[in-house]
Amino acid sequence: MQPWQDFIKEVLIPEDQLQRRIAELGEQINNDYAGKELLIICILRGGVMFMVDLIKHIKVPLATEFMAVSSYGAGARQSTGEVRITLDLNTTIAGKHVLIVEDIIDSGNTLASVIELLETRNPKDLFVCTLLDKHERREVEVPIRYTGFKIENHFVFGYGLDMDDFYRNLPFIGTVDIEKYDPSL
Ligand code: IMP
Ligand code: MG
Repeated sequence: MQPWQDFIKEVLIPEDQLQRRIAELGEQINNDYAGKELLIICILRGGVMFMVDLIKHIKVPLATEFMAVSSYGAGARQSTGEVRITLDLNTTIAGKHVLIVEDIIDSGNTLASVIELLETRNPKDLFVCTLLDKHERREVEVPIRYTGFKIENHFVFGYGLDMDDFYRNLPFIGTVDIEKYDPSL
């Protein structure tokens, strides 16, 4: 595995800025869901870091669930229109206030499929909270209620986001200098 110092272009969002914004999102969620109970669905694996930090700021009663999806042709840095559920929920969402927590929305294909599936299970309501939004790249519209940061179209890693499954543990978000990145190392 190549050290990230070798291919990072810049630290796009440093740790303190991430944490400040996540606290703000938590406050917003507290206001919007006051008096209600929440079911947070984290999309594995990228959403984990974000979910863990976010829920520390949420004061309304909440339960957590996990779901894993993969695009057909996984391994590519671009998702296709088709998404496969590789881990489904362990609970019913019927009648619940559901909030999906995701790391990044790029083409929107992944989340659009997840939303379409979950809507068939009749939640009371269903909203999306994403840490990052690469809005320029959207192919399908997905309704987003909470966005951490809108970012330009560059490949990012760290804080849950991976490059070939590594670097998810970094506490900041960096951009990749793709010419310097060598997945075979
Ligand atoms: P979408 O279906 O194109 O919206 O892709 C969303 C998924 O692609 C995210 O959940 C990420 O797993 C992955 N992804 C998209 N852009 C990036 C990136 O810049 N870095 C790491 N993963 C990304
Ligand atoms: Mg993901």
